[in-house]
Amino acid sequence: MEWTRKHLLGIEELDREEILFILDTAEGFKEVSTRSVKKVPALRGKVIVNLFFEASTRTRISFELAGTRLSADVINFSGGTSSTQKGESLVDTARNIEAMGVDILVLRHSSAGAAVALARMVRASVVNAGDGSHEHPTQALLDIFTIRSIKKRIEGLKVAVVGDISHSRVARSNFWGLQKLGAEVYAVGPSTLVPTALEKMGVHVCNSLDDLLPEIDVFNMLRIQTERQDHALLPSIREYSRLFGLNGERMRRAKPDALVLHPGPINRGVELTPEVADGSQSVILNQVTNGLAVRMAVLYLISGGSGGAASTH
Ligand code: CP
Repeated sequence: MEWTRKHLLGIEELDREEILFILDTAEGFKEVSTRSVKKVPALRGKVIVNLFFEASTRTRISFELAGTRLSADVINFSGGTSSTQKGESLVDTARNIEAMGVDILVLRHSSAGAAVALARMVRASVVNAGDGSHEHPTQALLDIFTIRSIKKRIEGLKVAVVGDISHSRVARSNFWGLQKLGAEVYAVGPSTLVPTALEKMGVHVCNSLDDLLPEIDVFNMLRIQTERQDHALLPSIREYSRLFGLNGERMRRAKPDALVLHPGPINRGVELTPEVADGSQSVILNQVTNGLAVRMAVLYLISGGSGGAASTH
């Protein structure tokens, strides 16, 4: 296929072929990071600005490295030290940065819809690096890439996304992507954090992790996001962990080849015990490694690349 999109704003808008095309392009870029010279000239002369208005470790560094490995010039912008503190709006900020000759804006913002709104107002390509509780498309792509690289398929797998589904952009993007690729998807957590409306999009809603344990192929454990909860939705963190945390005892009842994913940052002892987070079924650091290849693929494709960049020396 030929890639035609200028922006990556969410997984909802992508079709199955587009998702697979990004994953396949990322396979080619994964090898670049194993070379002694970890660079290809695919985006030489292009300028990428990472506009981050929310805290980030993995996504920001991953986009920075991805752009650098494609030979683009990469600038990092942090909302906390910018003129937004003096009242400048997101759009004015982005337009001023764009006036310096920017090709791609990578945006993380606390407002759902911020990336879509920005894409309508600038000439540059926009990549959504997480917008409020809406979508985090590159996180879902790297999650799916990681599952596919180990299980060799997505179709027919039973994937449980566990935790604070209501506030999770990671969950929303995963639901879209996994369903489009034929997985059977479960949203698992307390009823206060799992909207039953998800059933309308074909996601199974379940309020007991223990009931599902033996049949699940992949557990994607979400962080409890206290910063997005405007009132207490959990009796206590200890109670949440007792009912929905993955620990050694639960892993012994799960399939021996079940995978454990987490987008990070982890609340150790809440969503996962350390023995699970660091155990043999955890692929959490594989996710981080794969995120780099996935983001290289996204930056490359929206810049007009069509394949073969990883083999260009
Ligand atoms: N998974 C994720 O988005 O992590 P960061 O918030 O550290 O970027």
